[in-house]
Amino acid sequence: MPYTRKGSSVSLWQATTKLPTFPPLENDVETEVCVIGGGIAGLTTAYLLSEEGKKVLLIEAKTIGAGETGRTTAHFFPPDEWYHTIENTFGIDHSILVAESFSKAVDLVESIIDKEHIECSFERLNGYLYSLSDKELNAIDKEFEAARRAGITVQKLEEVPGISFATGPCVKYFDQAQFHPLKYLNGLTQAFIENGGIIHCDTRALKIDGDNSMQVVSTNGGKVRTKAVVVATNTPFNDTVVMHTKQAAYMTYVIGLRVPKGSIPRILIWDTGDPYYYLRLETPDFKTDYEILVVGGRDHRVGQDLHPEHRYEEIEQWVRERFPMVQSVEYQWSGEIMEPVDGLAFLGRNPMDDNNVFVITGDSGNGMTHCTIGAMIVNDLIMERSNPWTSIYNPQRTIIHGISDFVSEQTNTLTQYSDWLKGGEVAAINDIPLGQGAIVQIGVRKIAVFKDEQGKLHPLSPKCPHLGCIVHFNSAERSWDCPCHGSRFDTDGEVLHGPASTSLPIISL
Ligand SMILES: Cc1cc2nc3c(=O)[nH]c(=O)nc-3n(C[C@H](O)[C@H](O)[C@H](O)COP(=O)(O)OP(=O)(O)OC[C@H]3O[C@@H](n4cnc5c(N)ncnc54)[C@H](O)[C@@H]3O)c2cc1C
Ligand code: FES
Repeated sequence: MPYTRKGSSVSLWQATTKLPTFPPLENDVETEVCVIGGGIAGLTTAYLLSEEGKKVLLIEAKTIGAGETGRTTAHFFPPDEWYHTIENTFGIDHSILVAESFSKAVDLVESIIDKEHIECSFERLNGYLYSLSDKELNAIDKEFEAARRAGITVQKLEEVPGISFATGPCVKYFDQAQFHPLKYLNGLTQAFIENGGIIHCDTRALKIDGDNSMQVVSTNGGKVRTKAVVVATNTPFNDTVVMHTKQAAYMTYVIGLRVPKGSIPRILIWDTGDPYYYLRLETPDFKTDYEILVVGGRDHRVGQDLHPEHRYEEIEQWVRERFPMVQSVEYQWSGEIMEPVDGLAFLGRNPMDDNNVFVITGDSGNGMTHCTIGAMIVNDLIMERSNPWTSIYNPQRTIIHGISDFVSEQTNTLTQYSDWLKGGEVAAINDIPLGQGAIVQIGVRKIAVFKDEQGKLHPLSPKCPHLGCIVHFNSAERSWDCPCHGSRFDTDGEVLHGPASTSLPIISL
């Protein structure tokens, strides 16, 4: 199984693509639009604006595709709240607009791939939603009817066709899609550069200051003076509180197993369970007699399972029980998704700022689609054109729907602060095994200590620089994860995921 030098998992996509790198920003510059973040949201927005003739500069804290776009499973599917929940929550008008935006996003991706000749194994295929739980059986009927009312082409079937276990009734959604996400990013990057776009990697945005006429993005390199800023950092680093009460950060898990070529039909499958599972196939580029079956699910709030390795085993058990032809596990990886509490992503003007700061976040397990919709909305807002979906995805909206999820996620977050009242997770540093980390209490001080394979200690402040919760060691990814709003750090304290934009300080023992 591939792992990085620091012990993080490597996804199927990261293992099979090399993306270009760009030099860091080293002086002050001026541009029309500064896009922050080199994932699918940032690069799609940058590309669309460069097609409009805008002067665009993109800054990325690490490398292109280093975030969740490199850790996705990259299929385009209906909203993971499903249409019946969206219709129940927001009404039929919303669910029609959501359906339209989802369909237009896949069309846009397909048209960019055609226009820019991007080789990323894009494929249209059908997807099936089934339910094995008796109490949820009418969920399939409800979803079928709601999807039809939203204007989607769907069919109700007695079984998912061509697979080796009995699924019971399912909804068939026509014309969904999948691709190789990092090959797509590679193509977008090249097209953006050919359009005159500029990219700086290893350039972290730290602060945005300004007003409607000009914003200044301060980075660890120089400052960027810009007429508009797009914050496409998966979760916004520029907004300390508001956006982080509207969404919750979850870890989600994937394994990739060999299967004999042709033994599983080329379809997408999802179930309605809790925990849920889904799957897709990926065919390696090189000539082989096997394909990779990519299976995911088993989410939990970030930083709230310290030893999540069992989740890979549970996914493997689930798939082996249903697909006896699966062979060895070739990949396993995890990543982070931002769940909006009312079920719709936040795509548009930033709530707290002037009219020229935009965010793309809250994309849940639908990030391929949501980030593309976000790029379309932000492109139209910057070009001062109307867009039919601005109000449904407006990040400025007050959370009035999904209020019980809002309360339960906020209660969960606030409870995490009580970690400060607890003792250490181990009695002494000696109790930390090689290759593991734990919170140690020494006198009144709490210290996050990682002990590497050679026994060398890496002590860090455990206080998350975002809003002060205590981080916890994630033994599967060898990272320090914050249970409050999803910041994650590597064993040297460097930020892996926001909203934190500064490292955990190194401290002496
Ligand atoms: C395991 C898993 C499976 C998934 N499966 C699917 C799926 O099948 N279909 C689907 O639609 N979605 C799926 N998703 C969700 C989807 O992958 C994400 O929502 C999407 O990739 C997010 O893209 P992004 O551009 O917003 O963020 P990212 O790809 O994370 O990009 C953000 C970038 O911003 C950079 N950055 C962060 N802070 C700063 C800063 N301060 N300054 C500069 N740069 C910064 C980061 O380094 C990163 O490269 C899945 C996610 C996971 C983890
Ligand atoms: S992510 Fe908010 S306190 Fe850590």
